[in-house]
Amino acid sequence: MPSTETVAEPLVSLRDLHLSFGSNAVLKGIDLDVHRGQAVSIIGPSGSGKSTILRCITGLLQPQRGTIRVGATEVHTLAQEAQRIELRKRVGFVFQQYNLFPHLSVLENLVIAPRKVLGQSRIEAEKQARALLAKVRMEHKANAFPGQLSGGQQQRVAIARALAMRPELILFDEVTSALDPETVGEVLTVIRELTEEGMTCVLVTHEMRFAEEISDIVYFTENGVIVEHGSAAQIFQHPTSERTQAFLRHAVGDPGRRLAISNDPYLLSNLGRYSLSV
Ligand SMILES: Nc1ncnc2c1ncn2[C@@H]1O[C@H](COP(=O)(O)OP(=O)(O)OP(=O)(O)O)[C@@H](O)[C@H]1O
Ligand SMILES: [Mg+2]
Repeated sequence: MPSTETVAEPLVSLRDLHLSFGSNAVLKGIDLDVHRGQAVSIIGPSGSGKSTILRCITGLLQPQRGTIRVGATEVHTLAQEAQRIELRKRVGFVFQQYNLFPHLSVLENLVIAPRKVLGQSRIEAEKQARALLAKVRMEHKANAFPGQLSGGQQQRVAIARALAMRPELILFDEVTSALDPETVGEVLTVIRELTEEGMTCVLVTHEMRFAEEISDIVYFTENGVIVEHGSAAQIFQHPTSERTQAFLRHAVGDPGRRLAISNDPYLLSNLGRYSLSV
């Protein structure tokens, strides 16, 4: 049995994270904790470093300074990609681009990694896949191919695919910002249910009302620093920083719908590293 102290330790802990791209200092001393079962949102202006923080948590980017711990793994010490792939088996990552395997049916998209990576039998993997598709209300599309689905449907399948690996936590990076407004709600409903079930989630989102509703803790970032953090009520109802107040004045009510990933060259050139290549 773990001691009480162990239970109280955060699942994710970032300390004094510094990361630059050349001369562009993007993270300038980030401290952030995520406890098991929490939903933690990171909000802030475009370019403030939100996606970079998520990429550090999952070992896609290495900071120049600071520490990253996920469970017992000291992520900043992992020297080889193979070690980081081990980490990504435990940390789900869902982002704007659904990145489903286009040549596989919806069901097979959910079956392949658990079979190849976790060693599940086909029967076991299919049973789990169907249960997860029911959970995201996509069981009727089990035999469809990703290209035959709407953006919102693909995103729900992508969430189910991440869950199929039974991750310790899931990172969501603006998963609704490329969707048609009418499909945003169905994806948010799935995420809301996950957080209610106690799945540990870190969300980067421009959906402020959603962040306020579902988050235990909210971090506001600007220019690579955490300006303030606190409970959702604290940050949205009583922000102490003028910067947070100014940001929220403009951001609330603006879902921040933007173009697809063509504006994020890092994502485009690293897509294969996000999902386990199987
Ligand atoms: N691979 C990269 N190479 C060089 N610069 C990068 C790279 N990735 C991000 N940046 C820069 O780092 C800064 C922070 O980017 P990041 O994507 O983390 O911001 P963000 O808060 O997620 O913004 P948005 O809300 O627009 O998604 C930006 O100035 C961006 O141009
Ligand atoms: Mg981003």
